[in-house]
Amino acid sequence: MTAHRIAVVGGDGIGPEVVAVALDVVRATGVAIETVEFDLGGARYLRTGEVLPDDELEELRGFDAILGGAVGTPDVPPGVLERGLLLKMRFALDLYINLRPFLAGPNRHNDGVDFLVVRENTEGTYAGEGGFLRKDTAHEIATQGSVNTRMGVERCIRYAFELAQSRDRRHLTLVHKTNVLTFAGDLWQRAFDAVALEFPDVGTAYHHVDAACIYLVEDPSRYDVIVTDNLFGDIITDLGGAVSGGIGRAASANLNPARTGASFFEPVHGSAPDIAGKGIADPRAAIISAAMMLEFLGESDAAARVRKAVNATTDTTGSTSQIGDAIRSVL
Ligand code: IPM
Ligand code: MN
Repeated sequence: MTAHRIAVVGGDGIGPEVVAVALDVVRATGVAIETVEFDLGGARYLRTGEVLPDDELEELRGFDAILGGAVGTPDVPPGVLERGLLLKMRFALDLYINLRPFLAGPNRHNDGVDFLVVRENTEGTYAGEGGFLRKDTAHEIATQGSVNTRMGVERCIRYAFELAQSRDRRHLTLVHKTNVLTFAGDLWQRAFDAVALEFPDVGTAYHHVDAACIYLVEDPSRYDVIVTDNLFGDIITDLGGAVSGGIGRAASANLNPARTGASFFEPVHGSAPDIAGKGIADPRAAIISAAMMLEFLGESDAAARVRKAVNATTDTTGSTSQIGDAIRSVL
């Protein structure tokens, strides 16, 4: 058995703490991995001024997967790590799917919640189109366009249909704002309708994003798979975390399904500097992210065991390492 080569980006704050526990869980499955740590994030930027040098990006590309903790420190200005590290990786490695699963948490009101959001991850308002005119004058103009290519939208929608087809409920909802974003929304709707013809066994729906927010709060169990654009996906996945198991359990996979670059697995949560170093961060989001990594590496049995162990210990409370121990003990 050849070991999977994993690049580890612990990052800042609680990032390294939760990633260490997630790696322990992965090793406990018996799947062979070989890890290389990358020093990336706010701490490195403050020390050296570097965010993600191109040679390191190219090195990352060659790994079988990248496992991340969280990046960000309060002293780094907004945008530096977001654009320079996370989005740079998403764009350069063509991680065009951001897959985020949501399961019911320990509290009862959200029983039956089991849905996934497929967020387009390389286009939309995140593409960086726009700029300033007459900056710092009274006549200043800032534009921030939304880039939607038929290819980019269609590959994301096709991925979502395939995913929905593999699930029991076989249902896919397109979330957008077609009533106002009449250009981008129209392209999304047409691409959705066209791809839907290839999947006659998948039921479909369309919800405006504002209405989807109400539905997510009132009854998130109505959703199976949601597909949406980059910015809407960013927003509704925080909401998804809040109405399901909480942000401490919200995992994500930045996938390049064409496998032309290493996919990147990370919790949705941030580096939480306020609780860093205390050993109290919930490692579940990192562990579920690691399970998604195992799945993507073809280790479906191990991935299923990890997910099952996380579900079996859903009521377990305690420190970061205690939760990790509990999950490993039922593996
Ligand atoms: C997320 C984060 C990122 C995003 C930021 C940190 C760039 O909020 O992964 O959801 O907006 O995509
Ligand atoms: Mn976000």
